[in-house]
Amino acid sequence: MQRLVHTLTRADLPQVFEIENRSFRDPWPLQAFSEEVIAHARALDVDSVLCGYILYHVVLDEAVILNFAIDPDKCRQGHGEYLLLQSMRELIQSGCTRFFLDVRRSNSPALKLYEKHGFMSLGIRKTYYSDPDEDAIVMGKIITLQGNQHDS
Ligand SMILES: CC(C)(COP(=O)(O)OP(=O)(O)OC[C@H]1O[C@@H](n2cnc3c(N)ncnc32)[C@H](O)[C@@H]1OP(=O)(O)O)[C@@H](O)C(=O)NCCC(=O)NCCS
Repeated sequence: MQRLVHTLTRADLPQVFEIENRSFRDPWPLQAFSEEVIAHARALDVDSVLCGYILYHVVLDEAVILNFAIDPDKCRQGHGEYLLLQSMRELIQSGCTRFFLDVRRSNSPALKLYEKHGFMSLGIRKTYYSDPDEDAIVMGKIITLQGNQHDS
């Protein structure tokens, strides 16, 4: 098996949108994947087939995960972990030291993945999500200068 993390381009959007619709009950509409939003996006190919993506909003040393999914047929094979860590490693190399995200309270696969890699729960946004209504857990991870909080 060969994994390749690469820049997400507009040509990847049909596959991304297809995975998005199979991964979330409240998927982003296609127009949400604007140039600005995909500026810091990375995609994961497994054996030359796109099977996941992660989108960040980056300002100076801070990166917020906006969207992240692995093809539901390819979950639980380590791909999400690989894409998360590889994309974070690249951002750390370009100067990011603070990572944040929102996650549904009931999304235990994602919560477990983030906790496994040192993200801490920072607070709750009440009824942040709709369809169904649900709180968001805000999580964050600070990378120290020595990088010793980053398990890459
Ligand atoms: C969250 C998601 C990206 C994880 O991707 P994945 O490729 O299945 O995850 P991995 O196989 O790399 O698993 C890595 C770790 O995540 C956690 N994990 C992933 N899926 C899990 C599950 N179904 N149950 C429990 N833990 C899970 C575990 O800690 C796992 O480590 P382990 O194998 O040592 O137990 C994937 O489930 C997904 O796309 N979900 C739908 C979209 C979504 O919720 N995105 C996140 C929004 S914040």
